[in-house]
Amino acid sequence: MSGEQIARELGVSRSAVWKAINELKKDGYRIGAATNRGYCLSEDNDILSVPGMAPYLSDPKFAEHIALYPSLESTNRTAKELAVAGACHGTVIVSDCQTAGRGRYRRQFYSPPGSGVYMSFVLRPERLRLETPTLVTALAAVAVCGAVMKISARQPAIKWVNDVCCDGKKVCGILTEAVTDMESGNMEWVVVGIGINFTAPEGGFPEDIRHTAGALFPDDPAPVTRNQLAAEIINMMLDPAGHDRQEMLAKYKSLLFMLGKRIRVVGAQSAYDATAIDIDEAGRLIVSTEDGETKTLSAGEIRIEP
Ligand code: BTN
Repeated sequence: MSGEQIARELGVSRSAVWKAINELKKDGYRIGAATNRGYCLSEDNDILSVPGMAPYLSDPKFAEHIALYPSLESTNRTAKELAVAGACHGTVIVSDCQTAGRGRYRRQFYSPPGSGVYMSFVLRPERLRLETPTLVTALAAVAVCGAVMKISARQPAIKWVNDVCCDGKKVCGILTEAVTDMESGNMEWVVVGIGINFTAPEGGFPEDIRHTAGALFPDDPAPVTRNQLAAEIINMMLDPAGHDRQEMLAKYKSLLFMLGKRIRVVGAQSAYDATAIDIDEAGRLIVSTEDGETKTLSAGEIRIEP
């Protein structure tokens, strides 16, 4: 479209259009310009932005509480600061990269620019009807799987409690952090952080995760944008219809790849083999040990290996 036509349609001067195009280019958008033919926004632009997510949001109000950053130390950290300051249910922090992305057990979460979606939700339990952090983690895993199935042909599977895998490789990690009122025992707020490897990072994954990490679209170019994925996750996380515990857990179980399978349970002190049997009402994993004992495992205490 020519600069003149854009200027006419928007009721601004041609130099204002030219300046705006340059600003967009500075933000990283690839915009071609051909004499007499005007500007062309190429289709392979995949810059995270709220306007880029907006067309895919199921409720336009969701966009009012999305804050987007080019880089953050950790979206969970920013979301927690905002939660303490009173941020409302449904506040979403999204970043193109993280300089100190955090995983469970104080591990780092590799969060390079341009290839992932790193996002954290501030949730208020009174709007959620899911009473424990484990259930909120389960909701996030179901939301990610739902979004992945909507935008791609990949078949995601959940590794209890907080990993989403595709073809055996981890494509997403979830970190839920909550503050509980000491007197009532109720959660005051929850921050759930979701990190997704959308495409393979430039230069590949670092050596220590090269064999376990994967991406949703490992072979560029992706047929959809990161904005679309982020928007679908927001839709699924914030739609109250998805918060029914029974339905959410039924979906969670159907996506869990380990039920009925032999697993290794690794605790701080010991490790043992078991068979994964079921998920209980609180999202805990029920296993049967080799000597026939049934155990209920809470997230946080243990790690599961296939
Ligand atoms: C894990 O695999 O152990 C959990 C990883 C969680 C990573 C996400 S990325 C967005 C949010 N911000 C963080 O610092 N961590 C979570």
